[in-house]
Amino acid sequence: MSFPDVRMRRLRQSPAMRGLVRETSVEPRQLVLPLFVREGLTDAQPIGSMPGVAQHSLDSLRAVATEAAEAGVGGVMLFGVPAVRDARGSGADDPKGILNVATEVLAAEVGDALVVQTDLCLDEFTDHGHCGVLAADGSVDNDATLERYTSMALSQARAGSQLLGLSGMMDGQVAVIRRALDAEGFTDTLLLAYAAKYASAFYGPFREAVDSQLRGDRRTYQLDPGNRREGVREAVVDEQEGADIVMVKPAMGFLDVLREVRDTVQVPVWAYQVSGEYAMVEAAAANGWIDRRASILESLLSIRRAGADALLTYWATEAARWLRG
Ligand code: PBG
Repeated sequence: MSFPDVRMRRLRQSPAMRGLVRETSVEPRQLVLPLFVREGLTDAQPIGSMPGVAQHSLDSLRAVATEAAEAGVGGVMLFGVPAVRDARGSGADDPKGILNVATEVLAAEVGDALVVQTDLCLDEFTDHGHCGVLAADGSVDNDATLERYTSMALSQARAGSQLLGLSGMMDGQVAVIRRALDAEGFTDTLLLAYAAKYASAFYGPFREAVDSQLRGDRRTYQLDPGNRREGVREAVVDEQEGADIVMVKPAMGFLDVLREVRDTVQVPVWAYQVSGEYAMVEAAAANGWIDRRASILESLLSIRRAGADALLTYWATEAARWLRG
């Protein structure tokens, strides 16, 4: 038996040939830009551990969201940093709280051009920094937290958020919030479940970005980084509870989970390229150790290839401009 030579390089001989056989691409419409708005600011304030990313005032927020829309980015995900915190995170569901006020501003400014999304979690609003309220023994009380999330969901929907990012990792959060929204007539408000959110060291710079008060860790509610099957199971449960979209987070350390989730559920799957992933590339690029633009684009492509239909990235606007040529 004789076979013709296998010559794989035939597929790679020119840019046009490579373009014809490239399996994956990234488009601006698939990118979501996370944004931080801080109560009381008059100007944007840079975040030291995330060069190029800032905490925004309402005015600077409006400006960057408009830039994102003009670049063709598909959505913005808003995080609020309040001036005052308390044990139950009162600022989170206060209609005058910074996140809800900023949501109203963005919905009016860019709500027709892209999808205005809000983070639904208590950690930025609590004085202890946990994602939920605490029981008497100091543990995070799942079911008491669901009541706070429900109130937060209604406030965000009333403020004009089109998609709620449920990032708190409480059991039952998707079902409870879906029911509450529907009962109030918010049947069109989408739910993105941070289904497989791991207790990761790569959230480090984010903690500075939101001025986190957390001491300790989130290991009693976020997933153990060693567990792939459990991450897939979380996504299945969230899909059954009614999530419109499920997420894997962080992205690059968990591409195997992302692939398996994509192959398992039917809903869209998103990934979150988190603050530590951003900071690593920026730091290496600043040292001249890697090619910044090529590294960023390769990272986005890899996350898409692993199965993300869309992704959150702090490079969304810049990458969208590159991708548009
Ligand atoms: C919690 C939340 C976190 C991030 C997004 N939402 C931090 C955490 O769980 O500790 C991290 C995002 C990032 O690192 O870019 N509401």
